[in-house]
Amino acid sequence: MIALPFLRIHARRVLTALAVACLPLITGGWLTGPQSTFDTKGPVAKAQLDVFYVTLWVTGIIFVIVAGVLAYATLKFKARDTDDPNAPVPPQGHGNPLVELGLIAASVIALVFIAVPTLHNIWYTYDVPEDEKATAYEVNAIGYQWWFKFEYPKEEIAADTPLVLANELVIPAGRAVRINLRTFDVIHSFWVPKLAGKVDMIPNRANHLWLKADEPGYFWGQCAEYCGESHAVMRFRVIALNETEFADWVARQKAGAKAVTTNEAQPVFASYQPIKNERNLPGWSEEFDRDPLASWRKQQQPEASAGDQALIDEGRKLFAAKNCNTCHAIRDDQQGGAPFAPDLTHIGSRTTIAGGLLENSAQNLHRWLTDPNGVKPGNKMYRGFTGGMNGYVLVNHETNTITGENIKISDDEARALVAYLHSLK
Ligand code: CUA
Repeated sequence: MIALPFLRIHARRVLTALAVACLPLITGGWLTGPQSTFDTKGPVAKAQLDVFYVTLWVTGIIFVIVAGVLAYATLKFKARDTDDPNAPVPPQGHGNPLVELGLIAASVIALVFIAVPTLHNIWYTYDVPEDEKATAYEVNAIGYQWWFKFEYPKEEIAADTPLVLANELVIPAGRAVRINLRTFDVIHSFWVPKLAGKVDMIPNRANHLWLKADEPGYFWGQCAEYCGESHAVMRFRVIALNETEFADWVARQKAGAKAVTTNEAQPVFASYQPIKNERNLPGWSEEFDRDPLASWRKQQQPEASAGDQALIDEGRKLFAAKNCNTCHAIRDDQQGGAPFAPDLTHIGSRTTIAGGLLENSAQNLHRWLTDPNGVKPGNKMYRGFTGGMNGYVLVNHETNTITGENIKISDDEARALVAYLHSLK
């Protein structure tokens, strides 16, 4: 009885809150966002969404029936002011076998309704269907703290050396893609909400998933398993292209680094204004978001970022002088590179930097190079690796304390590095 006045007072507030919460559902606001699982763009994500809807409908119907009977019983049999408080207790029953058996049967039927499509889709989403195996494309995805490496075993740079990329997985649209999931360090999870997910990348375990993009598009991906300090900003992108465009892209990526300077009359990099990094400062421009695939295509064009030749040459020298090339490989342009750092051979053609966190604009790259720890706390470029590989700072990994500075990049140096890196198309 205590609950009723409370409900009456709060009913309006509760209803208002519910209506506000449901508004985006009605208007479709968050149903189409870049990481929405309701706006599927491939058969695997669609199969997963179908199972969600089956479960939602079955449990929704059960909820309506149970809540309806409860509301009916509560209202019909509640105590009234006119009731005699001294009336004898009505006869007590001990259950109705017919109702109980009926409810058990109904529950079993409801579970079967959920189980059949669920089991069917578990098998379907587990691996590439038999009739698509012959045409399926294969890639390896490897999780690192905190970025993704993508290997293309079918596209060899040299004997037994696959094409390697970072943070942007380019795939052929309309074709099944089998992704072998591995990790370099801790457990990560591979998730492209609109295409498929999620499957964990576990040390010493060969997991895989498959996905297919119905049409060319640009999709957001995200690590979906807590993996340390910068887990929340461990992101990636999937770009699906039609066969011709995909083949062209592969050919360009297999070629070595080529600094492009076709637009020397307009040295764009000398002119940008550096932005000071702040916590949670957005990393994306509205212009990019309007049509991400078009923005990606634009990024492939040499004209989009060619700059001042002198600045590019200076950046190239700095890349070696600052020991960036100890970890980052730039094929056919720099000596060195290590397998545990992103390959930067064609970084000028990527749309993202810092593990998919920032749009690859001159200002953002400048921001990343001058304040890596502010952009992505704890990252290995800044703190180095346990075992003696140093980053921007020297760290005593036993005590986890910073003991000194190692790499320092001034604004002018960053400008030259940006010009050089963006020229690598
Ligand atoms: Cu990797 Cu979370």
